[in-house]
Amino acid sequence: MKILGTGSALPRKTVTNDMLSEFLDTSDEWITTRTGIKSRQIISDERFEEIAALAGQRAIEAAGLVPEDIDFIICHNVCNVYVTPSLASLVQGFLGIKGPNCPTMDLNSACAGFVYGLDICDAFLETGRANRILYICAEEVTRMVDWNQRETCVLFGDGAGAMVLGKGDNYLASTLTSTPMPDVIYYRLPCEPTPYETREGIDTHKAMQLKGREVFRNAVTSAQRDIRDVVAKAGLELKDIDHYLLHQANMRIVDAIKQNFDLPDERFHHNIEYRGNTSSASIPILLDEIVREGKVKRGDLMVFNGFGAGFVTSAAVVRY
Ligand code: UT7
Repeated sequence: MKILGTGSALPRKTVTNDMLSEFLDTSDEWITTRTGIKSRQIISDERFEEIAALAGQRAIEAAGLVPEDIDFIICHNVCNVYVTPSLASLVQGFLGIKGPNCPTMDLNSACAGFVYGLDICDAFLETGRANRILYICAEEVTRMVDWNQRETCVLFGDGAGAMVLGKGDNYLASTLTSTPMPDVIYYRLPCEPTPYETREGIDTHKAMQLKGREVFRNAVTSAQRDIRDVVAKAGLELKDIDHYLLHQANMRIVDAIKQNFDLPDERFHHNIEYRGNTSSASIPILLDEIVREGKVKRGDLMVFNGFGAGFVTSAAVVRY
């Protein structure tokens, strides 16, 4: 597998910490110190599928291709208003890619999902089931939180990161893990009752519930374990990696990993300051930003690492 081009797209509304403190008992000082976040983009009147499709279109253009060159669309998405059809199918319509020879599907492995999806794309490409996959991670996490709950709503932002993937030998290693811990982070949608239900309240809708400290501890431990593991699997050492792109959940998590690895600061990229936590989209948005800023050149080695509800974790080593 090889990354042929990247793209990203964000909602137009930027929300600063001060704007949140207008209706929440919070402050710029608390949010900045505890998370590193200064502002984030939050969906308002846009259609979410259009943001995802725009990220995809930019990735196709960056790859020097046209939509008709894509023969598979895979989206990673935790939640959007459409449970069905899939986001990938909706994106296909927006991009004007006619069927029936471009299959579409969605994946969901929470905030760790970006690398989970890369693994699936790699399998489809390397077994010859697809030649050029449009892979989009798109999230509107801000629709999953209770906007009266300062513990969660200040943390998140929305957006989409995309890439076109083709055949190649640049996916050097990956690590995926899952440990059932459903109480640590969860979000329950309302579902229709069946006529046979007797228990009350089993499908009670619950905005996102998050045990932040537990997630924080697990993230710091799992990130170090997974990164060391995946770099060793690739036959490399930590110092050989040019770019570390970690899930952007909290700047303090990135800092903790950085300190433990004793590597130059500039190898650890971050945009949480002005994007917030965009779940599975955080790494591909960050990747697109640093590619467009000219910070990455062909042949550079990158590590991606994520964690999220499940508890799931993931890491990969990729040659750009
Ligand atoms: O992508 C996966 C999901 N991501 C995460 O779960 C992120 C991982 N966790 C974290 O980043 C951190 O745990 C948080 C940023 C969520 C919380 O930071 P913390 O240092 O663990 O704070 P805390 O939850 O222990 O709360 C400390 C205090 C509490 O007050 P008391 O009990 O000490 O009086 C909270 O009520 O801060 C209070 N607090 C706030 N104060 C102002 C919580 N949220 C806020 C807020 N503004 N927004």
